[in-house]
Amino acid sequence: FHVDWDAASAEKGGFDTFMEKEIFDQPDAVRDTLLGRTDSEGRLALDEIRISEDGLKNIDRITIVACGTAAYAGMVAKYALEHWTRIPVEVALAHEFRYCDPIVSERTLVVSISQSGETMDTLMAVKHARDLGANTLSICNTHGATIPRESDAVLYTHAGPEIAVASTKAFLAQITACYVLGLYLAQLRGGTYADDAKKVMTELQEMPAKIDELLGHLDRVREIARFMADTRSVLFLGRNVGYPIAMEGALKLKELAYIHAEGFAAGELKHGPIALIDAGQPVFIVVPGPDTPHGLHGKVVSNIQEIRARGARTLVIAEEGDEAVVPFADEVIRIPKSAPLLAPLLAIVPLQVFSLELSTAKGLDVDQPRNLAKSVTVE
Ligand code: AGP
Repeated sequence: FHVDWDAASAEKGGFDTFMEKEIFDQPDAVRDTLLGRTDSEGRLALDEIRISEDGLKNIDRITIVACGTAAYAGMVAKYALEHWTRIPVEVALAHEFRYCDPIVSERTLVVSISQSGETMDTLMAVKHARDLGANTLSICNTHGATIPRESDAVLYTHAGPEIAVASTKAFLAQITACYVLGLYLAQLRGGTYADDAKKVMTELQEMPAKIDELLGHLDRVREIARFMADTRSVLFLGRNVGYPIAMEGALKLKELAYIHAEGFAAGELKHGPIALIDAGQPVFIVVPGPDTPHGLHGKVVSNIQEIRARGARTLVIAEEGDEAVVPFADEVIRIPKSAPLLAPLLAIVPLQVFSLELSTAKGLDVDQPRNLAKSVTVE
């Protein structure tokens, strides 16, 4: 995978870096990944998947294999797919799956997620799964890449070529493709599952406009990033689908600004990480919407209180209109309201822009961070 940086630089679309262009391409990446995947009645139509409907109806376990950002997309998808289909979903880091003794049968669907379709760790995991008799489906952003060719079926993301090493639009497209797959499987189950699928698909089709709106309101995030240019450690907290977003937000900061960053489940705080909190420690907290089930919103608000009481600098990502977070937030970064399971498509955007801006403020190479390759084609 070679990039002709000179020729490609003409394609930055007026942005200073590919990464910034690709962040702003995200509404289209989601829209284009949804395009053509419903029929005239708005039902999911995935005849491009070369696994028969009976084959898919027979699936009793889904294992997602991926690396890095793609694995975090899989972690987000797990919550949604299990909710919509009631099929157990496991997310395995491809390089771990490859060398463990996975439970796989002919009723297992192994879904690989890979932007490049050339990641050796993921390719080896797919081959391992196939040798064990699993059905394999590739979610990939590169037509004709090795992993789709080695899989029984492929569901392409349509994010367009992603040039920057740090993945952004492919991440949103991967989540979107996982959602489309999950809704399709739910639809195949029929009954209330199918009714829910149709409703969620409508909500999903509203997401590109919400991402677009959010992209126009991130000046404060950029200011915060520039102010924090010399910070040495940032923590990221999230719950439920916000947990993989915390992990991805931390990964972006590591990759782009070479700053130690850690993402973890907010519920883990008391089990150790709260010892890390001292005066001025910056912490991003991804807050679920107030109407999220299981009282998750209230639990995260109390997490913010706990760390604020110990001196943390709380940078809160919260839905428009959520006033409960205000008393405990040093900064509130607003995202549009959305269905709880779709919120990751919004919550990650401020974190992408934060890392982009901080990297720029440090004068680093945003598109080609040190030590990193766009596709890791070695194990
Ligand atoms: C993303 O920001 C990273 N560059 C990296 O984690 C990447 O997501 C991972 O290497 C997987 O790549 P793939 O999607 O091409 O398989």
